[in-house]
Amino acid sequence: MYSYSEFDHAFIKERNKQFRAQVERRIDGSLTEDEFKPLRLMNGLYLQLHAYMLRVAIPYGTLNSGQMRQLALIAEKFDKGYGHFTTRQNIQFNWPKLRDVPDILDALAEVEMHAIQTSGNCVRNVTADHFAGAAADEIADPRPTAELLRQWSTDHPEFAFLGRKFKIAVTGSETDRAVTKAHDIGLRMVRNDAGEAGYEVIVGGGLGRTPMIGKVLRDFLPVEDLLPYVESILQIYNRLGRRDNKYKARIKITVHENGIETIRDLVEERFTIQRAAFGGYDQKLFAEIKKAFAAPAFISASLDGFLDAQNKDGAFRSWVDTNLSAHREADYSIVTISIKAHGQTPGDATADQMRVLADIAEEFGHNELRISHEQNVILPHVHKSHLPAIYARLKEAGLATANIGLISDIIACPGMDYCALATARSIPVAQQIATRFDELKLEHDIGALKIKISGCINACGHHHVGHIGILGLDRAGVENYQITLGGDGTETATIGERAGPGFAYDEIVPAIERLIYAYLDIRDSEEETFLQTYRRVGLEPFKLALYPEQQIAAE
Ligand code: HEM
Ligand code: SF4
Repeated sequence: MYSYSEFDHAFIKERNKQFRAQVERRIDGSLTEDEFKPLRLMNGLYLQLHAYMLRVAIPYGTLNSGQMRQLALIAEKFDKGYGHFTTRQNIQFNWPKLRDVPDILDALAEVEMHAIQTSGNCVRNVTADHFAGAAADEIADPRPTAELLRQWSTDHPEFAFLGRKFKIAVTGSETDRAVTKAHDIGLRMVRNDAGEAGYEVIVGGGLGRTPMIGKVLRDFLPVEDLLPYVESILQIYNRLGRRDNKYKARIKITVHENGIETIRDLVEERFTIQRAAFGGYDQKLFAEIKKAFAAPAFISASLDGFLDAQNKDGAFRSWVDTNLSAHREADYSIVTISIKAHGQTPGDATADQMRVLADIAEEFGHNELRISHEQNVILPHVHKSHLPAIYARLKEAGLATANIGLISDIIACPGMDYCALATARSIPVAQQIATRFDELKLEHDIGALKIKISGCINACGHHHVGHIGILGLDRAGVENYQITLGGDGTETATIGERAGPGFAYDEIVPAIERLIYAYLDIRDSEEETFLQTYRRVGLEPFKLALYPEQQIAAE
């Protein structure tokens, strides 16, 4: 894992000191809220529906146990005892008091964390595959790339005031677990015919009010050209991106309006100039960063206890089947811990839960934790012999729900419960769907299914790329929920299709239920997933299930 340099420590300390003085001036009234706003946003502090909200970056979702414990302490001491993990690998504290925020930032700095560039029109937290460095299907570890980009983009003087926020995601595997095609820049690590590592560069993806799947700008970019190339993209965006209309300011619109070919020509032209300006220092830095991400010292031990527990304990077996993924070491597993027990708020973790996770990672997980964009926590490196002990500890803490990738593993944005922009609630809808399908005991039968919910068109909950997407809107003061179907956020990314008119708050769960029964009816085997069925049969049969009255009218 990357550790701060002396420079980083001094930089963060100085920045926190500045902000402390700004907060003092806001409290004593010498700064108005309007004057304070740009200053606080540079430090990740929003003003939400009920309180301030602090968004803390977890670069590429990677944490050690000490950092997780510090987040627990902050949650307990300065918030209401919990934090909210988000779809961009950040953690949000929803109830800090303004006067406490400088202390929170100091507490974060102690464990090499901060909230810089988690807001504003700059390059945001660089995200990456949460299985990085562990996945069996990995071509190359995306974390050094994400770290290099983080260092390059933090306080980059040229890109502090872009037309709009800018999001970069990196994946190093065949399977895209980082939603790269819905980011401003998506980088996919690939190898060329000569076996050299490089990137496929995707540009102009994004969700929100105008959802778009990113387009390939370059099939193969050699690893050493990364920074000059990304810098060229940002320069072109900074110059061409619209500033007259906030809703047309993202790079997806720049690409759409100018065409990918024009953007490619302009970027390549800039790139020849930029490449010459990079003197090679970035490559020295990259080599050092790579060393910091060396694999942990893997252990070897007997698997007998694990195999025995699998044979004897059905609940353990079910958790193993659902929550584990293939590690590149055969005797190791990647464990995804669900922080979405049925009926709980997706993404919320209490201070106690964070401490349990930190302890388990320290004892059994080479001291590493990850936060996924799907709002779960991952132990990337677990020897299989430790799984029964881990499971027992998780069970005790209420963290052993075997629902990863299933219907109750829902992404939900904070919606009207916290967010000032919300037009509807998201969290209770997610809770009710999870509870209902738990009651029906259908979850495992339904199999792989991604439901994603947003409380307004900004699409933080990624509803456009949910197999079932739910978008909460306000219709004349009443909550109304639109359903989209067939969305996909992976390497086969697709924007979901709108199914038809929306549903009232109390109609949405029954509508999802009809949808699921229709799927169970039409699937050609138990192996055919919801998305595969949808791709085979299209919208029509699902539409009939959602709007049965239309069928009657047609008969
Ligand atoms: C769980 C909490 C949140 C998460 C995970 C989150 C993450 C995201 C994501 C992934 C998007 C989609 C951007 C894209 O791909 O184009 C988005 C959009 C947006 N978010 Fe959030 N966000 C959260 C909370 C908030 C809050 C509290 C605010 C209010 C200040 C906010 C303001 C926005 C806005 C205005 C957009 C639209 C951006 C655009 O289309 O240009 N988000 N957010
Ligand atoms: S989708 Fe809308 S309601 Fe939900 S967090 Fe984002 S901005 Fe807020």
